[in-house]
Amino acid sequence: KDHINVGLIGFGVVGGGTARILAENAETIAKRVGAPITVKRIAVRSLDRARDFAVDPAILTTRPEDVTDDPEIDIVCELVGGMDPAYDLVMRAIKNGKNIVTANKEMMAKSGNALLHAAEQNGLDFSFEGSVAGGIPIIQPLKQALAGNKFRKVAGIVNGTTNYILSKMTSDDADFADVLAEAQAKGYAEADPTADVGGFDAQYKTAILASIAFNSRINLADISVEGITKIAKRDIEVAKDLGYVIKLLGIGEDLGGAVSVRVHPVLLPKSHPLASVNDVYNAVFVQGDAVGDVMFYGRGAGSMPTGSAIVGDIIETARNIRSGSTGRMGCTCFDSKPAVGVDQ
Ligand code: HSE
Repeated sequence: KDHINVGLIGFGVVGGGTARILAENAETIAKRVGAPITVKRIAVRSLDRARDFAVDPAILTTRPEDVTDDPEIDIVCELVGGMDPAYDLVMRAIKNGKNIVTANKEMMAKSGNALLHAAEQNGLDFSFEGSVAGGIPIIQPLKQALAGNKFRKVAGIVNGTTNYILSKMTSDDADFADVLAEAQAKGYAEADPTADVGGFDAQYKTAILASIAFNSRINLADISVEGITKIAKRDIEVAKDLGYVIKLLGIGEDLGGAVSVRVHPVLLPKSHPLASVNDVYNAVFVQGDAVGDVMFYGRGAGSMPTGSAIVGDIIETARNIRSGSTGRMGCTCFDSKPAVGVDQ
């Protein structure tokens, strides 16, 4: 194939970043793939909305089927989030022979298993790097570069909004509500910020990371969750005086025969590598038996960082399409066999 066509479903914060990167870096991307990549169609909720990145209005449609069913589209990027209608649209696209790229953490945490198997059975690629920690590469490293390790622990600051809030409350003595409003204005927070501050966004991401790291399907019900809503300024001050910072962590840990997966605020000594991860930055700290400690750090939310992860997945998929090797994910993550045991 000498030309790869992409269709986007969803053109919000992440969709805008994805389209911008594909347009602005088109030449470099074409060199890396060996063929140009074009955004052929974008399904949007409303045609009139003002957007950060303008595209030819002729490629916009309000019918997602114009993307999932277009015979000329090779890769469908699902960027609407949530289960409904995302899941049905992605399954429809798979049945129509489309390779999938998604940033949808909820859908992956709840139904990653079914989706990956459907894609593999149809000989298609399915990638979801953007679903965890925005622009930070973490899914691919766990699946590939670190795959020789038995993991002892995966612990991450995987929600940018809450890290932004906690950091600002620590450094500027700022007020919870004001900082949350700032995070929303910058496009970091979820549409319903309860998912951020209640820890549920981190729960989805931790489920995905732990499922890959421990080759088990970690169900959301197996993860205990506590968000940051009970953290007061006073807690932050006391922690600071004692030489600690408060961070919301998602943790997956091999306890030897059982896996413990949880999300909660943690008192970290200031010397811990995760303690200096501030603002909207995310970081994932991985302990492997062979590699030792590795930390991945970068921007965990926002249009361009998450777009970077999406475009990386698009490029890898495009290369596989060109070499006729899609659908060889060989990924057993999210397999339906139960976790070895979940210790709460
Ligand atoms: N609301 C999420 C966050 C966006 O704040 O990290 C990225 O998944």
